[in-house]
Amino acid sequence: MSIVFDPNRRTLTLYTRSTAYQMQIAPLGHLLHLYYGIRTEGCFDYLYLSRDVGFSPNPYELRQDRGWSLDTLPQEYSGSDTGDFRLSSLELRTEDGLHGADLRYRKHEITEGKYALPGLPASFAGTEEAETLTVTLGDEATGAEVELLYGVFAEQDVITRAVRVTNGGSRRLKLEKAASLCLDLPFGQWELLHFHGCHTEERQPQRLGLMDGIQTVSSRRGASGHQHDPFVILCRPETTEDCGACYGLMLVYSGSHRTDVELDQTGSVRAVTGINHEGFCWLLEPGESFYTPEVILTFSAQGLTALSHTYHGFIRRQLCRSRFATSPRPLLLNSWETTYFDFDAASVVALARSTRDLGLDMLVLDDGWFGRRTDDKRALGDWFANETRLPGGLAPLIRQIKELGLRFGLWIEPEMISEDSDLYRAHPDWALRLPGRLPAVGRDQLVLDLTRRDVREWLYDTLSALLRDHDIAYVKWDANRSLTDLYSASLPPERQGETAHRYMLGLYDLLERLTSEFPQVLFEGCSGGGGRFDAGMLCYFPQIWCSDNTDPVSRIGIQLGASYGYPVSAMANHVSASPNHQTGRSAPLGTRAVAAMSGSFGYELDPRSLSEEEAAECRQQIAQYRRFEELILNGRLYRLVTAGSEPFRVWQFVSPDRQETLVNLIITDHKAPARPLHFSLKGLAAEACYSLDEYHFYGCLNEPEWQPAASFSGGALMYGGLTLPVLSGDHPSAQLFFRRIP
Ligand code: DGJ
Repeated sequence: MSIVFDPNRRTLTLYTRSTAYQMQIAPLGHLLHLYYGIRTEGCFDYLYLSRDVGFSPNPYELRQDRGWSLDTLPQEYSGSDTGDFRLSSLELRTEDGLHGADLRYRKHEITEGKYALPGLPASFAGTEEAETLTVTLGDEATGAEVELLYGVFAEQDVITRAVRVTNGGSRRLKLEKAASLCLDLPFGQWELLHFHGCHTEERQPQRLGLMDGIQTVSSRRGASGHQHDPFVILCRPETTEDCGACYGLMLVYSGSHRTDVELDQTGSVRAVTGINHEGFCWLLEPGESFYTPEVILTFSAQGLTALSHTYHGFIRRQLCRSRFATSPRPLLLNSWETTYFDFDAASVVALARSTRDLGLDMLVLDDGWFGRRTDDKRALGDWFANETRLPGGLAPLIRQIKELGLRFGLWIEPEMISEDSDLYRAHPDWALRLPGRLPAVGRDQLVLDLTRRDVREWLYDTLSALLRDHDIAYVKWDANRSLTDLYSASLPPERQGETAHRYMLGLYDLLERLTSEFPQVLFEGCSGGGGRFDAGMLCYFPQIWCSDNTDPVSRIGIQLGASYGYPVSAMANHVSASPNHQTGRSAPLGTRAVAAMSGSFGYELDPRSLSEEEAAECRQQIAQYRRFEELILNGRLYRLVTAGSEPFRVWQFVSPDRQETLVNLIITDHKAPARPLHFSLKGLAAEACYSLDEYHFYGCLNEPEWQPAASFSGGALMYGGLTLPVLSGDHPSAQLFFRRIP
């Protein structure tokens, strides 16, 4: 039993392998949060001493007891306007002006398996793998009923949370805020680790102490965005990669999101996360329900690496539905940085031939194959082949590519529409726009109104026909602008506040239908790189294009930032040309491959521009990746040296049985005088002996002199570490592979 109700203490405790999570039904029915941390027994209500804090109100029934206040006690899911002035989780308004939410316990239920969230991406479990706790709270005055849903994945050390709000009254109810999770940390000091950035520089970790007051990580872009990841970590100041307490809060949602973290007057911390409530308003008719997105919650007492490992395993096995989630991926060449919009059938076939000669599995034709798409100003929505470029359409091209022994992949951007397109000329009302105002454009394009069933049906028919009629093994699903003008012609005025979330529900509906109808197709997510790199998308897409920045030195920072929450198997990375098209920086071919071998691997350059030597090096890289693919995609990732005082970064993959390990290192900068590079490995068996089966240095000015021992004990590598010679040159790199000696 992972969920235990103690009727005497009125506690509900959720146990996972190494954590315990406890709440208590207080005498007036308020649901208090007592504990979340290392697994242990007991009732934690003794921690909360009665205290009279000035200007912190008391419930009417307890007015004789000034020491009891919702404003100072930890809440499981905070209401609003009832005397808790900290962050609210729920804000309601009836049509006659009543507002706030005074939530009191009504009942609870424990069931086998995992709850379902209709229409939303969510983790999944067999009946044996998880248990569900549903705690029903109610607000008498508005008639709202709130079900707090907890999925307890005991083995994975994960608790998922979501909320269902039902209008149980007889008046219409407006939901102005409905968070997915509220987490109170009543004691101790906490820091916020979040991942921010911009287009081409996503997921930069930033760790800050909390200021008194509220700090916010959010998006209002209708997408999770390049700027702020819907994933944050709260950790102790002393927490490192290897030790210390930390909590992860990962929202399974791809739209506008928000996490607020408040440090209050008493030193207590509250985090509230969910759909961004700015601009959000959902109307509930009597009897109607609303489901919030899910949050994947975990606690680690062993630092950030252990927390990341929990997420990596969970996303691969309990979230990502694709059959490719844990299996090898085709090694591909993507045409984008090779041709941009400048190609025709003959040049694509020539590119495919050189792709085949390099030893790859697939050619992916990126943007520019459809309608009159000769640049990024037109034709989005016209999902039929450009016959001038591709005479006879896609079919003859795919046939020729298959005859070369390659599989074929295709880029699409289905959510968008160009004004200069047949689709727009036929259906100008299908784009999101506000009556009486000119819409904002992004990359010269508008966004289709996916809240509309007719638009979704058209997209479904068009895309499913494309996939049914052609042998397409891979789809790159792009989305190259943020949402604005959030007004849907299909919704009545009082429901316009639902547009952004209904858009996302519409997108999920489309993705659900297409990915389940075409399970053999590998879908890759993309939004100008990592503009929608989130757990919601990972339910449908086993991999996402990490960033439009393919410079290995920048890219490795982006990948390592993403790795705090997301597995390496979710990241698609390519070797591109040098100098790099985004930064202009030059990097050795070997270094570009080392960076790209941290996820699903491929190329995005013209093989015909390579010298004989370079082509041979690529063939070696491909062979090397095939050998290490399982270790990279499904092994344990350790961030050995991240950004900081050292001018290099090192990361390591360890097989789950600790038999093999691969170490990757890239010099990001240089310090003079140059020093040998020292770092320690992790995750090995201390008493075992490991042979250094291979090591490679790439891009060094002079071949480094190094005569390593043939074998090392795991303990030596972990506690003594490893010293590599000075690597000089422009961003050289190294790769080392150790195997356990039987
Ligand atoms: C943005 C993507 O991130 C790129 O890889 C490429 O597919 C372009 N869009 C094409 O327009």
